[in-house]
Order: sequence, then C-alpha cells, then structure tokens
Amino acid sequence: MIERITFDGPVILGAGLAGLSAALAAGKALVLSPTPLATGCSSAWAQGGMAAALSDEDSPELHAADTIAAGAGLCDPKAVALLTREGPQAVRDLAALGAPFDRKAPKDGESGAFVLSLEAAHAKARVARVGGDGAGAAIMAAVIATVRATPSIEIRENARARRLLQDATGRVVGVLAQIDGALVEIRSPAVILATGGVGGLYAVTTTPAEVRGEGLGLAALAGATIADPEFVQFHPTAIDIGKDPAPLATEALRGEGAILRNTDGKAFMADYHPAKELAPRDVVARALHAERAAGRGAFLDATQAVGAHFPHEFPAVFEACQSAGIDPRREMIPVTPAVHYHMGGVATDLDGRASLPGLYAAGECASTGVQGANRLASNSLLEAAVFGARAGRAAAAEAVHGGEPASLEPLPDLPEAALQILRKAMSRDAGVIRDASGLARLLDQIEALEPAYGPCPTIVAARLIVEAALARQESRGGHYRTDFPATAQPVRTFVTLTSADAAVRYAAE
Ligand code: SIN
Repeated sequence: MIERITFDGPVILGAGLAGLSAALAAGKALVLSPTPLATGCSSAWAQGGMAAALSDEDSPELHAADTIAAGAGLCDPKAVALLTREGPQAVRDLAALGAPFDRKAPKDGESGAFVLSLEAAHAKARVARVGGDGAGAAIMAAVIATVRATPSIEIRENARARRLLQDATGRVVGVLAQIDGALVEIRSPAVILATGGVGGLYAVTTTPAEVRGEGLGLAALAGATIADPEFVQFHPTAIDIGKDPAPLATEALRGEGAILRNTDGKAFMADYHPAKELAPRDVVARALHAERAAGRGAFLDATQAVGAHFPHEFPAVFEACQSAGIDPRREMIPVTPAVHYHMGGVATDLDGRASLPGLYAAGECASTGVQGANRLASNSLLEAAVFGARAGRAAAAEAVHGGEPASLEPLPDLPEAALQILRKAMSRDAGVIRDASGLARLLDQIEALEPAYGPCPTIVAARLIVEAALARQESRGGHYRTDFPATAQPVRTFVTLTSADAAVRYAAE
C-alpha cells in the first residue's frame, strides 16, 4: 500500500539555489531533496560567484551583450534581457538574506561596494564573490537558513522522485517519491523541477555524482518538450588528481592572471585564441583537450598571479590541491576539461512553465533560452535565483488540482555498474570533441541498455543528449563536431519522446 499525501502548494524537486529560490517565492512549498541540504547540489559547489551589473562602469545591456555573444547565436534575447535587468537586485536580495559577499571598505555608514571578479568573456569585472572562491557554499548557507526559518516551507531529505504523476489529460498532478526508502504518492497542484544538470552522466565532471539528468528524463518521459540537450559545457580547468567528481580550479584564477601551460612550460593559449586564457570557455576547453590528446599535458600556473595569497584568496582550490600533495603557490596545477553545466533542459517560458500543465522547471534542468549554446561564466547562480523565484511565484499563483493519476508505477533506476559503463562511454563519445561515428556507437550502447533498464530517466537523459548531438551537423558553442567544424544557421533544438519506445522525435516547433 503506497502512502498518499495531498499538498496544497508546489512540490519542488531539488534543493539547490533554483529550488530554494522557488520555495521562498512560492511562500508555501514542499521541497524534496535526495541528499541532506547543502550537499548533492551544484549550487553549493560554485566557486566563482554571481555575475550582475553591479558597478558604475557596467550595465545590464553590457552584461546582456556578453551573455548573447557567449551563447553563440542560440540565446533568447528576451530571457537574457530579463536576467541581466533583474540580476543586480537578485544579488542584493541574497546579500539581504545574509550571503556574505566580499565588499570594499564601507563609506559614509553604507555597506561597501561589491568586490567584483573578472571572468572569461565578460567585458567588465562583474562577478560578485564570497571569500574568494566560496560563493556557492556561502550563498546556499544563507538561503538554507532562511528556508529552515520559514514554517510554510516543508523539507524532506532523502527524497527522490520516481515518476511524475499525470492525469488522463496529461496534466502533472504530483509526484511519486521515494522517501527514506518508501514510495509516497504526493498529489499537488504544481511540480517544479529543480534537479540540476547532467554531470553525473559523464566520467569526468565537476558536479555532484547525484546530478545525472533525472529531472530531464522524468520530464521527457511525461511528454514535456526538451530544448537544446546536445549543449553540454566543459569547464577547462577541473583539477586532474584522479578524484570523482573532479575539484574545480575556478576561472577567476585566470581572471587574476594565471596561465595555462603544457608539460614543456609553454603558455599555449596564444596558439588557439587572441584572448588567450580569457577566451570563451569552449575554446579553452578544446585547447586543453588538444594539448592533452597530443601528449603535451595541461597545467594551470598561478604561482606568479596568486602565489602566496592562495590560501586566503582561493581557499577551496588551495585545499583541493593540498589534498593531492600539490602546493599551488609553488607548483603548477594539473588540469583537465570536465562536464560542468548543461545549457539544455526542460523547455520553459520566462515564468518557468514547461509544455505540460502543472509542470515548471528552473535552474540548470530548465532551458529558459538564457544560456544559448554556451553559458557565460557565473550566469548560472544568477539564473537559478532569478528564474527560480519566477517559477515559484507562477506555480503558486496558478495552482489547480488535476484528476486521478493514470499510473503509480515507479520508473526504473540504472544500477551502479551500468551507470559507470554509460559514464565512460558518454565522456569518450559525447565529450569536448564529437563525430558521427562516436555518437552512433554511443547510441548503440544506450540502446543496448534500454531493454534491461528502460524507460529509466537517466538513460533517457543520455539518449536526448546523444541523439541531438548526432542530429546537429555543425559546431557551435559547447557542441563541437570534427566532421562538421563549420557553424550553420542558428536553430534551437526542441524535442519530445514518443511514449511508445522512448526514442527522441524532433518536434516541429
Ligand atoms: C568558475 O568558477 O570557474 C565557474 C563559474 C561558472 O561556471 O559559472
């Protein structure tokens, strides 16, 4: 007998910055988190900070122009304008909740101005940071404290979604959850997906292992439209010390002047792009991939740019290096590209509405049109805060209970051994560099898993990425095809699954 709960507000799947921003904006919400709060979500691991036009030399329009340039033709300008306009207030709101952003000395009794870092492809220093490289953890600590002090927000940890519940019309009417091991049918007028990205589908990632496209797969299996799934962002400088997930060496280090070198000590970025270390992230990731593939290795040299200041300016990176016996004050840091962010996701409008009534999405698992083919650094926490709050407000305002769920069957899980095989294959064939033969081989491998484990949300998420990567016969942003290196017309991908076989069908939208 499955326990049944009825909740009169949005149920939010995921407790990163998008999920908790949605909960605070909704006022009343039930948040399901697979892990204890502040763990298992990428938000808490973010190092750089939040990009926003916070200085007198900057403006939302300049921030929008950089976002659109990085997005390589696929950003939705309306979504970008909204993000960059609402950005400064979103940062101030988080500061008011207690997020201790780094500040300059205060003047005339007012709070000091934000200390702003420069990151790649930003024309201005505009990344509000905390304790050098601790933005994500500090912002999440402030938001979690606020949520915990809000009695109308309920939190259930160790709670995973096993299926979206839908009535006979297709409306999402709740979620079948596994809470502390037991299945619970939760009926609610709205469900907000805030489940994060797809890093855990890849062997080398900077994101928590739990984040592996489950929300994407759940939404696709319910029939929601998915946008741009082929666009996966690789961070160029994950620290290559054999850890899974790989610790990040924030891009702010390159903003401070750290240099990428190969084993011979050559500063190689000049061979790849005039902006060198501050070239767009996809360009830097491919340059590192090329150096490593040629056997020359890749290292981040911050010995001059940061040197003795490392322990207090970049404490998280310093600690990760020290854990592997590397002293970044004196030694170069071995680095590798790693999956860091998914630009694609559940297609939404500007208030987080997905294509199915009753379903909303926010943060990395959503595709609002802000990130295009390549996300600008430090726009992700900003998107989570701005669009998470918008989704929470819309879901609370539009909440209508639907009919009886058509199925209460949990969707299958992917066993650990099969997941590890899939992760290796995804990194090999749907990585920084792709081509038709690798992607076709990968698709065969995914299809071989389907009879045993499909329809499993994790496998479906992988299939969405791979089929769209195979179909996109061009190179753009985070998607690089050696067999189609040129860029074609800018066209976004919108796909749905057929219910019959969970194969991807391209929707003419
Ligand atoms: C970083 O700190 O390099 C990551 C920032 C981001 O991915 O937005």
